[in-house]
Amino acid sequence: MSSLASPTPSPSSTASSSIIYSLTFLLSLFLLGLFAPQFFPLRKNQERQPPIPINKELDDLHLFELASNIELSRGVPKISHLRTANSHPKIAFLFLTNSDLVFAPLWQRFFQGNEHLFNVYIHADPFTKLSPPDWSIKANFIPAKKTHPRGPRVMLPEISFDRFRIGSQFFVLAKRHSLLVLKERMLWRKFKLPCIDLYSCYPEEHYFPTLLSMEDPKGCSHYTLTRVNWSDSIDGHPHTYRSPEVSPKLLRQLRTSNSSHSYFFARKFAPDCLKPLLKIAEEAIFRD
Ligand SMILES: *[C@@H]1O[C@H](CO)[C@@H](O)[C@H](O)[C@H]1NC(C)=O
Ligand SMILES: *[C@@H]1O[C@H](CO)[C@@H](O)[C@H](O)[C@H]1NC(C)=O
Repeated sequence: MSSLASPTPSPSSTASSSIIYSLTFLLSLFLLGLFAPQFFPLRKNQERQPPIPINKELDDLHLFELASNIELSRGVPKISHLRTANSHPKIAFLFLTNSDLVFAPLWQRFFQGNEHLFNVYIHADPFTKLSPPDWSIKANFIPAKKTHPRGPRVMLPEISFDRFRIGSQFFVLAKRHSLLVLKERMLWRKFKLPCIDLYSCYPEEHYFPTLLSMEDPKGCSHYTLTRVNWSDSIDGHPHTYRSPEVSPKLLRQLRTSNSSHSYFFARKFAPDCLKPLLKIAEEAIFRD
């Protein structure tokens, strides 16, 4: 399943639409571990950091709970998708966004006919008002939280510069990696640190690649799935494609990769690209 998916909806937003798709990215008993860090071995240096306040931990748990639609009864989830051998595994599509999903009609074309294979979640910035997406897909809305990325050198000493990995706004997590992410506290607490310079605080697309390359270097691909054209970067934004540039030829170019896998996603496209992209969707985007 390969798609050239719609990227950041607005050229001015920093990194508004992210997607993770993971096999049933739902909750498990592992969440209980959030309350009991002693269940997991403490890592080197972890002791040096101040503890994360319990209300923040509870907040996370609450979000995970919403995401999984699990009712906790006496602290024990009734269903635990991640730990069961599900005979009908699904892919979870997670859209993390701070603006309208202008490419929703394109996603609709991608999803239609395959409704039994996925769940869709929209994690919307609680500080912006989103219009309902222009699609007939059943989606669960879950308020997102502002993340507070770091300032200079705050990743040290746990994450040295050479271990840091640059990620892209689209990422894929396998089920076992979802578990790893849910259990992980050391890197996550870095993202709870206050932002030092508001203008350099971007949504943290680097978290997953950094974590996975540290924790499971043999189990991840070490390359990005997202094609980005940095040839004329403006204010840290890559080249934004406008509607006259969209063509089947461009899409073929954007898929071509130096790795053994083609690119799955591309960014970034201005909202006026929706029409031309829809026009060539059957012929050039969803044919394979
Ligand atoms: C990348 O952007 C430049 C404009 O900066 C454009 O001329 C070029 O065709 C683009 N390359 C691809 C592969 O889209
Ligand atoms: C592939 O590698 C060549 C040579 O290093 C480089 O010029 C080209 O931009 C790369 N293409 C992509 C899609 O990264």
